Amino acid sequence: MKRALWSASLVLAAGLSLPGFGARAQTPVAVTVRPAATPAVVVSKHIYGHFAEHLGRCIYDGFWADSALNVPKQGRLRLDVVRALQKIRVPNLRWPGGCFADAYHWRDGVGPTAQRPRGLNIWWGDVVEDNSFGTHEFLELCRLLGTEPYLAANVGSGTVQEMAGWMEYLNSSADTPLTRQRAQNGHPAPYGVTLWGIGNESWGCGGNMTAEYYTDVYKRYATFAHNYPGSPPLRRIVSGANGDDAHWTETCMKNIPLNMMWGLTLHQYTLPTGSWTGSKGPTTGFGEAEYFNTLRNCLKMEAVVTRHAAIMDKYDPEKKVALLVDEWGVWTDVEPGTNPGFLYQQNSLRDALVAGTTLNIFNNHADRVRGANLAQAVNVLQALILTEREKMLLTPTYHVFDLYQVHQDATLLPLDFTSPDYVLNGEKIPALNASASRDQRGAVHISLVNLDPQKTLQLTTSLPGVAWQTVTGRILTSASVADYNTFARPNTVQPTAFKGARKRGGQLAVALPPRSVVVLELR
Ligand code: AHR
Repeated sequence: MKRALWSASLVLAAGLSLPGFGARAQTPVAVTVRPAATPAVVVSKHIYGHFAEHLGRCIYDGFWADSALNVPKQGRLRLDVVRALQKIRVPNLRWPGGCFADAYHWRDGVGPTAQRPRGLNIWWGDVVEDNSFGTHEFLELCRLLGTEPYLAANVGSGTVQEMAGWMEYLNSSADTPLTRQRAQNGHPAPYGVTLWGIGNESWGCGGNMTAEYYTDVYKRYATFAHNYPGSPPLRRIVSGANGDDAHWTETCMKNIPLNMMWGLTLHQYTLPTGSWTGSKGPTTGFGEAEYFNTLRNCLKMEAVVTRHAAIMDKYDPEKKVALLVDEWGVWTDVEPGTNPGFLYQQNSLRDALVAGTTLNIFNNHADRVRGANLAQAVNVLQALILTEREKMLLTPTYHVFDLYQVHQDATLLPLDFTSPDYVLNGEKIPALNASASRDQRGAVHISLVNLDPQKTLQLTTSLPGVAWQTVTGRILTSASVADYNTFARPNTVQPTAFKGARKRGGQLAVALPPRSVVVLELR
């Protein structure tokens, strides 16, 4: 574990305080937890979705181990990885890409493994794809995880017929050559896969299309995305905008009839430097300026989601179409010495603060944001899990998904507060972000993120209309925002019990430590 130079020791030397140890008095932040809206807004569990692409070591070496590897396995599926993901309740898993999806031909990945053709992964390092992990293996992984599969159909280099055949293969119960093939391959019953992305980044690696052209293509594909008798109806998903590309969203909403789409996507990554050209910034060993910039860039998600949601509202005031941020997360330079095409990066407390902040934004926009997929689950970008041969570690980001799972399918409780600023070099961002929900048992959960690396925030929270007696909580923090878990020291950053909240009369008083994610439960 490395520490950035501005770690806890310097903080102490500067006379500043550490969490829970005589924190300097701050102006209290007044927070109000408002009653649920009418009708209630539900925080869709699908906001907590994940993404597994044939990219680097996500599938191969991540989920799908070498037969000789000495880890618990079912076939070649790594059960240590599966068990860790079961614990955080993954609601959906997106596959096979990403850019890879628009070069993927599903027929190459079914049938006896030895007969599957080998191909090249043109997007990610030109490595050989042996197709040993295909449709059945992915759906078995989903079954083990108890998660819904979210498939991305190949629009960029595929055909309508190829996509329609995949759907028939998976969902039809009629006696056809394709369903016989499915049965021969071990699955007589239809799978009933309903979440279907029609292309991926069609403005870029999915075909470099204009929005106008793509919407015509989308309608052609969506027409043949058939609902098979006995199988639940498909949720057809439009490949959406890159970041703040409002024209793409506007064109999709204008040109595609609402009844032809269940969802529209958006991809928005957080780059520490904010630039796709040159260095994106290191994942570890960064200084405070890089930390500040990363969080400032992450907070752009609020404006981006607000902008796309407003466009959608114009065409769909009843909010029938879901906005799905089906790729998000921190994207840094790769770890030194690793294949640049594999996008392998470490994951620090900074990533956890990005995750907590982003999930708070999604929760607070749950009226429109009804799905999201962190990029990606294992060994790629802002991963939940890193593996090295038989070793496995849980990243700080994993722990945020663990803490936040309480929000899945809970009722959103809107919050009012004015955040203090976190100021660096004359620039400022809001130090505090939060979201709250009430679960089906009546427990209220409040997730709080303090981005300020040095100051404790004193919160005084009123909850009109909420009857509660006890408060408990968990916290994720560390001595430095640059701290991370290694295979040698996998528990450097992990959640612990939080003791900084108490009931004061009818109010909830919280001393929210610097650089922390806290989730409280009120009963
Ligand atoms: O997540 C990595 C890549 O980022 C995906 O393949 C692509 O959709 C996006 O550009």
